[in-house]
Amino acid sequence: MEGSQPSMSDSELIILCLLPSILALLLASILIQRRHQTRYNKLNLPPGRAGWPFLGETIAYLKPYSATTIGAFMDQHISRFGKIYRSHLFGEPTIVSADAELNRFILQNEGKLFECSYPRSIGGILGKWSMLVLVGDMHRDMRSISLNFLSHARLRTVLLREVEQNTLLVLSSWKEHCTFSAQDEAKKFTFNLMAKHIMSLDPGEMETEQLKKEYVTFMKGVVSPPLNFPGTAYRKALRSRSTILKFIERKMEGRVQRMTEGGAGDSSRDDDDLLGWVLKHSNLSTEQILDLILSLLFAGHETSSVAIALAIFFLQACPRAIDQLREEHLEIARGKKRAGETELNWEDYKKMEFTQCVISETLRLGNVVRFLHRKALQDVRFKGYDIPCGWKVLPVIAAVHLDPLLFDHPHHFNPWRWQNKCASKPSRTVVVFNFGVFFNMPKCQIISCHSAEDRGSARDPSWLSSRWRFSSTIWYSTSAGS
Ligand code: HEM
Repeated sequence: MEGSQPSMSDSELIILCLLPSILALLLASILIQRRHQTRYNKLNLPPGRAGWPFLGETIAYLKPYSATTIGAFMDQHISRFGKIYRSHLFGEPTIVSADAELNRFILQNEGKLFECSYPRSIGGILGKWSMLVLVGDMHRDMRSISLNFLSHARLRTVLLREVEQNTLLVLSSWKEHCTFSAQDEAKKFTFNLMAKHIMSLDPGEMETEQLKKEYVTFMKGVVSPPLNFPGTAYRKALRSRSTILKFIERKMEGRVQRMTEGGAGDSSRDDDDLLGWVLKHSNLSTEQILDLILSLLFAGHETSSVAIALAIFFLQACPRAIDQLREEHLEIARGKKRAGETELNWEDYKKMEFTQCVISETLRLGNVVRFLHRKALQDVRFKGYDIPCGWKVLPVIAAVHLDPLLFDHPHHFNPWRWQNKCASKPSRTVVVFNFGVFFNMPKCQIISCHSAEDRGSARDPSWLSSRWRFSSTIWYSTSAGS
C-alpha cells in the first residue's frame, strides 16, 4: 500500500525481544570475568586464552582429529603456550595439561587436590550413580562393589572362558573371502561379552538383539552434543536410556523373584553375572543398580571395541607383527594339542607376551580415551603455575602417549618397544611402570610387561584406593598374567 511503513518480520521481532537478554548475559559475564580477573591477576596462571564468551575454545578443542595425533588445536596451543596452558572449555575456565608430570600429579592426588568432574550432560545420560560421575565415599563404595565382582579368580576362570567362546562365535560367523567392518565385528563381540557378563544375556537371542539396538541409539547420544530437542541424537539417547533401564529392571525383578522362591540356599548361578552379584552382595537401591549396570556396559563396551578395531587397523599395516603374533599363538596351540587340551586357560594367556606388546602399543598409539575431566579442589601450584580452586583441569593422556621425549618415533606402531620396557628411555619408562602405568595409559589399560614386583603392588589393597586405579585392575586382571 502506498505510503505504509514496512512491517517487522517475525524473526526481526524475535531478535528484538531477545536482544536485551543477550546484552544482559554478555554484561553479566564481562562483570564476572572482571571480578575473577582481579583475583587471577595475583596468580601466575599458565599462558593461554579464553576464546569466545560462554563457548570459550570448546568447538575448536572438540574438532575431530585422527586418534594417532593430538590434533591441530593441541599442536598449535602447545607450540604457542607450552605443555600446560589455560583455556575456557566446556563452559568453564580450564587448565589443559599435555605435561606427563602434571598429569601424573593430578592422578596421584585424586580425591585430595583434584576430583573427577565430567560435564553435567554425562550424568544426565549415564545416570547420577554412574561411577564416572560419582566422587567421594559413594564412588569408593560403587567401585569396591564392582571390584569384588570382578575378582581376579573370576576373571581367570569365567571371563577368560567367555572371551574365548565369544571370539569363536564371531570367527565362525565370517564367511571365506567376504568383506566386513572390523569395527562392527569388534562392537558385536564386546557387546555380547558385556551383556553376558553383566546380565547373562546370550548372543543372538531376541532380547539381546533388542537391547543392542537400543544401546546403539543410546551410544550415539552419549557422544553427541547434549541438546535435548525433538529429533536430536541426545533426546533419542535419553529415550533409549529409559528403555534400557526398564529392560534391566525387568531382569532384576525376575531375579529377585527367583531368589525369593529359591530361598537363601539358592544356587551360585545367580552370582555368575553382575546383576545377580549386586543383588545378593550389596544393599544398593534399584536406581543405583540400574546406573551401575548401564555405566559398566558403556565403560566396557565402548573402550574395548575401539581398541580391538584399532589393533586390527594397526596390524594390517605391520605384517611382521602379524607373523610374530601368529607364531606365538600357533606355539601355544601346538602345546595344547600335545597336552590333549582344548580350552584356553590362564597359563596359556600368560604365555602371550608378544600379544600383550601389541595390546599395549595399540592402546598407546590409538588413544582410545584422549583426555580426562578433573576439577581442582583447592588452589594448586605446579611447576611455578597456579591452578585456581574450582577450575577444570584436563590431563591429556594422548599428548603423553605421543610425546617424542617419552617414546621414540611415537607415531610409529612398534609393539617391540614394549618387549624391553627399559630399552631406550630407561628413566622415563620406569616412571611409567612404577606408577602402575596410569599416568601414561588410561586406567583400564594396564600394560602387561609388569615385573613381579609391579604385579605384587597390583594386589596390594591400597593400590585400589584411588579412582584412577579402579579399572586398571580390571584390565590388568584380564590382560596380564599374575
Ligand atoms: C581398552 C579398554 C579400556 C580403556 C581404554 C578404558 C579407559 C578408561 C579410562 C581412561 C577411565 C578413566 C576415566 C576417568 O577416571 O576419568 C576408565 C574408567 C572406567 N572404566 Fe575403563 N577402559 C577400558 C575398558 C574397561 C572395561 C572392560 C571395563 C569394565 C568391564 C571398564 C570399566 C571402567 C569403569 C567402571 C570406570 C570408572 C572407574 C572409576 O571411576 O573408578 N573399562 N576407563
